[in-house]
Amino acid sequence: MIDLSHPLFKVLAALLVLISWRRWAPVSYWYLIVFPRKAVRLRWTWRHVASGCGLTKKRLRWWFTTVPGLIASTGVVKVRRRFQRVEVDTKPWMGLPRPTRNGFRITFHLLDGQVPDDYAKVCERLAHAWRIEAVRVVGSRPGRVTLQGITHDPLTLVAPTAPPAEPSGGWRTEDLLRPVVGVLENGAAWRMDFRLIPHWMNAGATQSGKSNLINALLVGLASQPVALIGFDLKGGMELSAYEARLTALATTRAECLDLLSDLVAVMGARMLACRRYGVRDIWQLPDALRPIPIVVLVDELAELFLTADKAEKDQVTRTATALLRIAQLGRALGLHLVLSGQRIGSDLGPGVTALRAQIGGRVCHRVNDPETAVMTLGDLDPDALVAARSIAPEQPGVAVVTGSDGRWCRARSGYVSTDAAQRAAEAFADVTPSWAQVAASGLGHELPYESSPELVA
Ligand SMILES: Nc1ncnc2c1ncn2[C@@H]1O[C@H](COP(=O)(O)OP(=O)(O)O)[C@@H](O)[C@H]1O
Ligand SMILES: [Mg+2]
Repeated sequence: MIDLSHPLFKVLAALLVLISWRRWAPVSYWYLIVFPRKAVRLRWTWRHVASGCGLTKKRLRWWFTTVPGLIASTGVVKVRRRFQRVEVDTKPWMGLPRPTRNGFRITFHLLDGQVPDDYAKVCERLAHAWRIEAVRVVGSRPGRVTLQGITHDPLTLVAPTAPPAEPSGGWRTEDLLRPVVGVLENGAAWRMDFRLIPHWMNAGATQSGKSNLINALLVGLASQPVALIGFDLKGGMELSAYEARLTALATTRAECLDLLSDLVAVMGARMLACRRYGVRDIWQLPDALRPIPIVVLVDELAELFLTADKAEKDQVTRTATALLRIAQLGRALGLHLVLSGQRIGSDLGPGVTALRAQIGGRVCHRVNDPETAVMTLGDLDPDALVAARSIAPEQPGVAVVTGSDGRWCRARSGYVSTDAAQRAAEAFADVTPSWAQVAASGLGHELPYESSPELVA
């Protein structure tokens, strides 16, 4: 007869419960079992970890010390206590760790002379000391820095971005030009915020997920009253599937140049309109007067810059000049660029370096060589370059993304197949403004343009 009350059975049963809890409800398991243990360990070991990572400072402190003194005449050793200034290691004060879905956040008080960057530099050391995936600086206030510990990488799972279901699905004012395209490493939604960062560079080797990001962008923007314009010099192979939602699509170099000249002209007209109304950008205009924002999607920028002969050289120079003008003045006038390419560097031609300098948003997918990562991410923190270079080929869509504050983050675009993007484009075909509407909008002689009904959440 098996005795079920035997302690061994109880231990086994408890183990089984824990294992199944961890397997089937990992989030609550993390909050209730793993995190408390981790938090205690973090506080307990902080002095050693801080000292190992070079975050402590030597300070002179008054301290009671015991000094052995020899009384010469008798030879007796006598221990005396003295109040004395000694050098001690001071560690930064650590706040209470706060759990998040896939890690924790901790705020530290900076010691005199420290800056948040000192913590950004030792993130990798901290991650090893704390036995977790990664540590990132996620915020700072005067005298404080907040770190995020990431216990497991949420980017290993592909998060499909839900395409807007039906054409009647509206958009919200606060989402205008701020589409969600995936998830960030800290579990938050990855929003490409064109209102904050007007132009974006989307770089990466082939099969790294550049086109997928364009699909995600298209799905995110399809329902909004925004004109989408495609430049696809791969003969329209990539973007022609979405033609229903594109206000214009250029597939040859001559078309691209024409379209760019038209866009520069539209920009000029919008500039005059802003001057007439006495505002500095279109967002200061009342809603009824605001021109339709334009997002220009360029797939394979290099194709725009390739030259075979002298005649093409002139075309390329004009293309580069037009793109540069849009990049420089577009923000205020509602023209936004998304430039995709394998390499976006000076080897494409003289205009590209100047263009790159105007593109604030950077998305760096997996790259083949370190120079491309440097080109895309600029002289951001070297850790960002390491992160970009360590993206595995089996994780397409993972990228290093710069934020508005100059910091960087790993992110993964949601998977959007060409079919899903095409369905979204077709579903919102009637939202597509015509070129005439785009050109005339905001200039006081509007053509009728029905934007999709606004949804108040
Ligand atoms: N976020 C993602 N999640 C899952 N698979 C992805 C993701 N992004 C891209 N892929 C897959 O990777 C492959 C290459 O992506 P693609 O966007 O065509 O790369 P690129 O345009 O850089 O050559 C595609 O087959 C796509 O299905
Ligand atoms: Mg592609």
